[in-house]
Amino acid sequence: MTPEQFRATVLDFDPALAIGETESPPADWYTEASVASLEDEAVFGRSWLFACRDDQVAVPGAWIAGRHGRLPWLVVRDEDGTLRAFHNSCRHRGSEVLMGDGCAAKLVCRYHGWSYGLDGRMNARTHLPPLQVAEWGPLVLINADPEAAAPDVLELDFGGLQWVARRSYDVGCNWKAFCDNYLDGGYHIAHVHTSLDAQLDMGSYRTELGGAWSVQTAGPGDVAERIGEGATYVFRYPSLMLNRYGPVLDTNVVIPLAPNRCRVLFDFWFDEGVLTDEAFVARSLEQSHVTQLEDIEISESVQVGTESPAFARGRYAPRLEIAIHHFHRLLAEDLRSALP
Ligand SMILES: [Fe+2]
Repeated sequence: MTPEQFRATVLDFDPALAIGETESPPADWYTEASVASLEDEAVFGRSWLFACRDDQVAVPGAWIAGRHGRLPWLVVRDEDGTLRAFHNSCRHRGSEVLMGDGCAAKLVCRYHGWSYGLDGRMNARTHLPPLQVAEWGPLVLINADPEAAAPDVLELDFGGLQWVARRSYDVGCNWKAFCDNYLDGGYHIAHVHTSLDAQLDMGSYRTELGGAWSVQTAGPGDVAERIGEGATYVFRYPSLMLNRYGPVLDTNVVIPLAPNRCRVLFDFWFDEGVLTDEAFVARSLEQSHVTQLEDIEISESVQVGTESPAFARGRYAPRLEIAIHHFHRLLAEDLRSALP
């Protein structure tokens, strides 16, 4: 792609147009490495991102490392109990200072042993560059933009929940294709999730938008064991999903790995009242796993079809796909703002 073609591709979706007047972004947004690079700067370099749970950094010295696209991060609780976050890139050879998680008095680089305090400082001149850090309920959020305003967080009740399990899925699709699938207003549920379909009353499905948020809700269907009083699907741009159904909360974060590959990390919390019902917990995790496999299979198929020479861009279903369009508008605004 020439620089001119790249610019035209980025500008090829106008965020000012209403859903009925536009089509979805061009297929190149889902396949081209140059677009992924721009996203690293314009989206993941500036947005509030889910990094870890607060129970993973509960005590002084506890640290955890991960990455979001080209942003390797390190979250640590210092001696005073303050949460700190850093770019996980050693000032020496640029390696990730630490990988995985642990607890230590110093952050010692795994490559040559360069040693940083829990405040990221090695000496008067050398320190790990900080990231902004914020907490939302049990979720630790980070932002690589030092100028970014505090995150606008939605009022959600995290009370009485206990974390139970994490699941990781590697998916052969662009990270946005996985998000699009989540944001289609329940459109795919009857086709892809036959077991979930009976649990939800699709006639009551609603989508609300606000700022970096979209919220999809559905009332219970005829067979609503897993979802209780209904389901609430909260999306926070660019890549965090929170799903509340009955006594269960699960959070999903979508991490880009390559233009055609992403990783989705699921955390499951259960209301303390149902934790003793081990059969319920196991059944709930198993049903969720089935749903994930269905979403992964269709998302990977979307990637294959998007890469087809016959596909240039898609249409919206304007009544249903409000949240997808909202997601694409936020993306387009970020990408446009980063163009030279
Ligand atoms: Fe789905």
